[in-house]
Amino acid sequence: MTVPVLLDCDPGHDDAIAILLALASPEIELLGVTTVAGNQTLAKVTANAIRVLELVGRGDVPVAAGADRPLVREQLVADFVHGDTGLDGPALPPPRGAPLERHAVDVLAERIRERDGRVVLVATGPLTNVALLLALHPVARPERIVVMGGAVAEGNVTPAAEFNVWADPEAAQRVFASGVDVTMIGLDVTHRALMRRDHAERMRAAGRVGRFVAELWDFFSRFHLETYGSEDSPVHDALALVHAFRAGLVETRFVNVEVDCESSLCRGRTVVDVWRRSGREPNVHVGLAVDGEAFVELLVERIRSLG
Ligand code: RIB
Ligand code: CA
Repeated sequence: MTVPVLLDCDPGHDDAIAILLALASPEIELLGVTTVAGNQTLAKVTANAIRVLELVGRGDVPVAAGADRPLVREQLVADFVHGDTGLDGPALPPPRGAPLERHAVDVLAERIRERDGRVVLVATGPLTNVALLLALHPVARPERIVVMGGAVAEGNVTPAAEFNVWADPEAAQRVFASGVDVTMIGLDVTHRALMRRDHAERMRAAGRVGRFVAELWDFFSRFHLETYGSEDSPVHDALALVHAFRAGLVETRFVNVEVDCESSLCRGRTVVDVWRRSGREPNVHVGLAVDGEAFVELLVERIRSLG
């Protein structure tokens, strides 16, 4: 039984790997890819999504562009991580195809209605499109939303916040409060599921696509070496994607999560009530532990299968 997945993303090195992982996983039926401004501008992340799909001959997968900025905040790119193109590092031809004419939010709603809601929406960028979907199409709700974002006790864009939630905290708050079955795959688990150089070399040896992913890692690992003192790098978005079809790798707990949209110091902090101290109702399944080695081995095996 395959899992119908819609992937909303901002490629981005780890988003690109998540796209390839989805295509390499027989457990997944990839219904479409939508893009949101985040790691880079909407135009760049949309072109990147198409370029990655075309790299493996899957230009048939529909791509639709969504929000070109957060709901309220200014759009700030993460070029310090992903470079000016959003996929700096490997050589990748420009896109041949174009995105659909229609807005991503309308395309997401249509795909979800077509499947009577039996869709897992994996969101690996800022949650702007997902919040708009919930607001504009209240009857087109996916059965599950798996979010790469947030953290119990870490931050990567500030000491207090993870980039996707920090970029559009109002959108994240809206999604967490939606009542939909939401899982948060945050830094606490992605930072314990690291891709090392030996993993990259095994991919590089597999062929053209493996080499592409290894070259993504070559570039992406520099930020982690400079920031964390180790080139071992999290593949944040791929872990969220895996959770859509292999839930056993991440241990979650159903707790209350609220997003700080008021503070400047703690803008985008996900306040995760792990020990139920607030009395607030649980609303999100939060990843607290992960079998990191099993995740990366799965990733290596699937990427190698693409040659
Ligand atoms: O904080 C990591 C997240 O922000 C990942 O999704 C990465 O691609 C960026 O979007
Ligand atoms: Ca991303």
